[in-house]
Amino acid sequence: MTGAHLTRSVFLIGFMGAGKSTAGRALATRMGWAFYDLDQVVEAREKMSVTNIFATSGEARFRQLETEALISLLENELRRSDSVVALGGGTFVQAENRKILQLYDARTVLLNAPLEEMRRRCNESGVQRPLAQDAAKFEQLFASRRDTYNLTDFRVETAGKTVDDVASEIEQWLGARPTDRGVQKLEVRQ
Ligand code: S3P
Repeated sequence: MTGAHLTRSVFLIGFMGAGKSTAGRALATRMGWAFYDLDQVVEAREKMSVTNIFATSGEARFRQLETEALISLLENELRRSDSVVALGGGTFVQAENRKILQLYDARTVLLNAPLEEMRRRCNESGVQRPLAQDAAKFEQLFASRRDTYNLTDFRVETAGKTVDDVASEIEQWLGARPTDRGVQKLEVRQ
């Protein structure tokens, strides 16, 4: 892991049901960038669903595989093309993953919505989520993660907004933020 190269890639963070994958796809289309969903990257690498990984090997093993998949994306696909990456709801909560993202100077965006809304979206999505089965645990988990989620560079409240509104908000933020790493390097040299 070098961390030395940098792309303009952006990472979407947020709790289960925050809309990371949906908004991420829309944002990637707007930007003409590639899109990756980290859960799907893990599933493709392991040839097993996230639910099955949790069931057969447990959450700790899933977290290892998630970190490996993140590093692999950063070292391979994201070297080649600017991308939008939807992380899993727990990826950014792991200190190791936050360090890795920092090492790559990754831009991070939090998508947030009221808890009931995120729970409703989880129930309607058809995607099985091992950590979203129990309403009380779902709420506790969110409460325990809230402060860490707030460490992202930019935050979008998604309630009452269309997918396109959310994608456009992030696009504007990306446009407003200096992205030319060459310029940053020049500044360092002066
Ligand atoms: C998880 C969220 C899921 C998936 C796994 C664990 C979490 O991703 O990574 O079930 O810890 O919040 P989504 O946020 O895409 O549902």
